[in-house]
Amino acid sequence: MVKWSYKDIPSQQGRVAIVTGANSGLGFYTTRGLAEKGCEVVMACRNTGKGEEAMNEILKSVPGAVLNVMQLDLADLASVQAFAAAFSKKYRKLDLLINNAGLMAIPKRMTADGFEMQFGVNHLGHFALTGLLYGMLKKTSGSRVVNVSSAAHNLGEIRFDDINWEKGYNKWKAYGMSKLSNILFTHELADRVSAKGDDIRVVVAHPGYADSKLIEKGPEMNGRNFMVKAGRIANSLVAQSTEMGALPTLYAATAPEAEHRAFYGPGGFGGMRGYPTRVNPNRKKVSKEVQEKLWALSESMTGIPFSSNMA
Ligand SMILES: NC(=O)c1ccc[n+]([C@@H]2O[C@H](COP(=O)([O-])OP(=O)(O)OC[C@H]3O[C@@H](n4cnc5c(N)ncnc54)[C@H](OP(=O)(O)O)[C@@H]3O)[C@@H](O)[C@H]2O)c1
Repeated sequence: MVKWSYKDIPSQQGRVAIVTGANSGLGFYTTRGLAEKGCEVVMACRNTGKGEEAMNEILKSVPGAVLNVMQLDLADLASVQAFAAAFSKKYRKLDLLINNAGLMAIPKRMTADGFEMQFGVNHLGHFALTGLLYGMLKKTSGSRVVNVSSAAHNLGEIRFDDINWEKGYNKWKAYGMSKLSNILFTHELADRVSAKGDDIRVVVAHPGYADSKLIEKGPEMNGRNFMVKAGRIANSLVAQSTEMGALPTLYAATAPEAEHRAFYGPGGFGGMRGYPTRVNPNRKKVSKEVQEKLWALSESMTGIPFSSNMA
């Protein structure tokens, strides 16, 4: 694949996108990349103050950007419902839903609805959001959903018998489970969209290892300042830039050749850096049986009747 980059993003004039976690890291650059090409971006942020700071930062380099910060806490289904209702009231279409926000390897916490936080935010919150906005995606021709996963899906298994980690919480395996869920959700949603013949492309991406605040959040929550600093040093030595890390997401969201149900990530050293290319999920971790089971579980945990919303 050629070195696909920001200059290759086709015009997004007239399009509307939602980017979750748009105030920081990859979400910030994804938002900026889309806005530069004329896309109106709804920056879905849990902290609107941080969202507005990020919006003002983007406006400095893209003065004509059309941005709108809206509140979304993926750790609270009531907030997801309120966001979807507010979005549907304000907008008539949705071209791109970019499920980017996430938390990594944090100490055990629960969401407002009693789900383990990493699974709750990284997967269930996005599952609910997509289910609630499906009607908007369906009526927008050529719309796309992009889920942001990770190479850490390799660490994951879906613990159907202990989904909220009541026994023996492991922060890295819980992260791996949530990121594997992003891939399984992509596959099952893509299969259902294909079966219905809806004009929606469902794609999954991962950024490799990109310099962001993701690595700091867990140690910060534990009050381990030394590990926060160590994370920053590791980022400065090993990670690629956040700007590069956002490219697979932007490719999945905008490249005409990005394929339905495909996975995109960096094509360089160890899949951790470089320009976007097509990659494969760990084949031992994905199957039709597991993706269907996760879908049913996600519907019952969130109470969002996704399957009926697709009818
Ligand atoms: N950086 C990497 O190397 C890497 C590698 C693989 C995958 N990823 C994935 O990339 C995505 C983006 O991460 P990043 O690296 O850009 O990290 P980041 O800089 O920490 O950004 C994460 C974003 O998610 C938001 N968020 C966290 N909890 C939320 C909640 N309950 N509701 C709404 N938003 C919430 C954060 O908001 P606040 O600012 O308010 O906390 C922030 O905007 C994640 O899904 C992550 O798993 C990253």
